[in-house]
Amino acid sequence: MATIKTIGVLTSGGDAPGMNAAIRAVTRAGIAKGFKIKAVYRGWEGLINGEVREFTTEDVSCIINTGGTILRTARSEKFRTEAGMRQAYDTMCREQIDALVVIGGNGSLRGAMEFAQMFDIPCVGLPGTIDNDLYGTDSTIGYDTTLNTIVECVDRIRDTATSHERIFFVEVMGRDAGFLAQNSAIASGAEAAIIPEDRTDVDQLEQFLSRGIRKSKKSCIVVVSESPKCGAMYYADRVRKEFPDYDVRVTILGHLQRGGRPSARDRILASETGYGAIEAIVQGQRNIMVGVRNNEIVYVPFSEAVRSDKPFDKKLIKILDDLSI
Ligand code: F6P
Repeated sequence: MATIKTIGVLTSGGDAPGMNAAIRAVTRAGIAKGFKIKAVYRGWEGLINGEVREFTTEDVSCIINTGGTILRTARSEKFRTEAGMRQAYDTMCREQIDALVVIGGNGSLRGAMEFAQMFDIPCVGLPGTIDNDLYGTDSTIGYDTTLNTIVECVDRIRDTATSHERIFFVEVMGRDAGFLAQNSAIASGAEAAIIPEDRTDVDQLEQFLSRGIRKSKKSCIVVVSESPKCGAMYYADRVRKEFPDYDVRVTILGHLQRGGRPSARDRILASETGYGAIEAIVQGQRNIMVGVRNNEIVYVPFSEAVRSDKPFDKKLIKILDDLSI
């Protein structure tokens, strides 16, 4: 294997609070171990377009506490094509980047896996997504901050929901994963959560209503995972139609969930896994995601990390049900 002298770092896909802490950790741990660090701007798109700059330790000063990503990010359509990947590889050759650290979610790490396979490049991933949907790691960078943001929002909605005795459907992000919805519902004392993992053949609304919505309570909060077809609007409309006496409102939290200062937990996770990524490269690891399981750093092969079936603890559904009576 060729000696690695220069490591590129990029953020890709949806931004997540803590990505800056991860960039900082990769840069500083890399320089401390004698590597040259090159920052790639705008994710895969920037690698295709040659948006690269060498980073010093000062370039990552005062960013550990900030949301978003100083490297910017993108969802690159071009990188999905062979021609796009080839252009990205050309940039790596030109810039003499020998290995890559990719901070991003499922789609970004899938891209890293294919890129690494196609050009035989050492790639290491960091789990950077608010969704917490990467397999093999207990948490992802950004998830804890977003969970806390949602809980704060739901606490506020609770005040007005109680005052007006209304049913609120609160839609949260998470695409195909219900970790944010289920756990924010538990943490905010919501009455129910509607999540993809439990959207089998059972009609959840029916189930929820038959449990006696408003039986003992005057107001009610249901946290709903975003979904193109059956998000919060869908459920609110159905309740309005079937139960015209209920006073129903919808709040879609949207992108405010992605912003804000990262929590201490996310900063620590980003620092540990960022440091771990450099150690992994030193050890000759490649094509793995650095995660944390039971408080231990773990190396998860890309093929496993991007699996779509991260285990969801079904007990959480029972806990919410039983505690919201
Ligand atoms: O993957 C992170 C995420 O925030 C998802 O929860 C959400 O569905 C998606 O990104 C939104 O993406 P965009 O910002 O591109 O609309």
